[in-house]
Amino acid sequence: MDSFLKQVSVLVLLLLVTPSALAQTKVGFYSTSCPKAETIVSDTVKKHVKANTAVAPGLLRMIFHDCFKTATPNLLLRGYDVIEDAKTQLEAACPGVVSCSDILALAGRDSTVAVGGLTYKVPTGRRDGRVSLASDTANLPSFRDSVDVQKKKFSDVGLSAQDLVTLVGGHTIGTVACQFVSYRLYNFTSSGGPDPTIDSTFLSTLQSLCPQGGDGNKRIALDYGSGDDFDNSFFKNVQNNRGILESDQSLWQDNTTQTYVKRYIGIRGLAGLTLNVEFAKSMIKMTNVGVKTGTDGEIRKVCSKIN
Ligand SMILES: *[C@@H]1O[C@H](CO)[C@@H](O)[C@H](O)[C@H]1NC(C)=O
Ligand SMILES: *[C@@H]1O[C@H](CO)[C@@H](O)[C@H](O)[C@H]1NC(C)=O
Repeated sequence: MDSFLKQVSVLVLLLLVTPSALAQTKVGFYSTSCPKAETIVSDTVKKHVKANTAVAPGLLRMIFHDCFKTATPNLLLRGYDVIEDAKTQLEAACPGVVSCSDILALAGRDSTVAVGGLTYKVPTGRRDGRVSLASDTANLPSFRDSVDVQKKKFSDVGLSAQDLVTLVGGHTIGTVACQFVSYRLYNFTSSGGPDPTIDSTFLSTLQSLCPQGGDGNKRIALDYGSGDDFDNSFFKNVQNNRGILESDQSLWQDNTTQTYVKRYIGIRGLAGLTLNVEFAKSMIKMTNVGVKTGTDGEIRKVCSKIN
C-alpha cells in the first residue's frame, strides 16, 4: 500500500512538473512579446467584416472546424483570408510569435463584436498543431445530425449540452446555401412532402427563398428575419418551428436542449440565460479543446500549412 501511494505521488509530481501541464493559456499572453497582437487582429477583422459581413459567421465556422479537429485553419472556409491577412501583419510586427490558433480565437471574438455581440477577454498562448488533418471531418457536427449525435460529438470533445445550444446559437448571424435546406421542403425522406416539423405558414416562405430546382448556392439567413444581428431571435425561431437547418430545429425535440433554448428566450419560471454572456464562455471552452501550449506544437509561419 505504501509503495502504491508512493507511486501515485510520483505520478502526480510528474504530472505537475511536465511543462505542458504547467503551461496554460492566459489573458494578455502577448502583452510583452507582441503588444499590438490583439489590436492587429481586431483591426483586420473590422476591416474585412465592413467589406463583407459574411466573413463574421465564416470565422465562427472556422473555429468549429478547428475545435473538431479538421484542417487548421481550412482554406476553403469563408473568412480564411482574414486569418492570413492578420498573420502576414503579425509576422511583420513580431515574427514567429503569434500562433494561428490564437489569431483564430481572437478573430472569433472580434467577429461577434463586429456584428453587435459583447466583447470578452480571450486567453491566449495556444500553439499550432504539427499535423493538418484536412480530411478528418467526421467529428464535425453536421446539418442533418440528430440531437443525440450532436450531443455526443460535443461531449466527445468535452463540451456540454449547454455549450451545444449556446454555440449553435451563433447561427443568429449564420447563412446556409439552399442545397442544404431544399431537401426538407419538397420531398423529405422520400415522403413526397415537406419535413413535418416545419411551421406550415413558414414553409411557403422557405419554399420561395429556396425554390424547387432553383440555385442551390443561393445563401439564406439561419436566423430568419434577424440574420444580421447577434441576438436571441434564433432561439425564438427554433421555438416556432422556424429553424432552417434540420439539426437546429432538432434542439427543440429534446428536453435538455429545449430547456436551454427556452432559457435563452426568457420563458417565465426558468432561469434566464443571456446569449452574449454564455457565448463568450462556450467559445473560450471550445477554443481550449485539445489546446497546445508551452513547448508543444509550433508557431506556424503561414496558417494554411505546418512549418
Ligand atoms: C420523392 O422521392 C422518392 C424517392 O426518390 C420518389 O420515388 C418520389 O416520386 C418523390 N416524390 C415526389 C412527389 O417527388
Ligand atoms: C420530457 O419532458 C416531458 C414534459 O415535461 C416529460 O413528460 C417527458 O417524460 C420528458 N422526457 C424525457 C426523455 O425526459
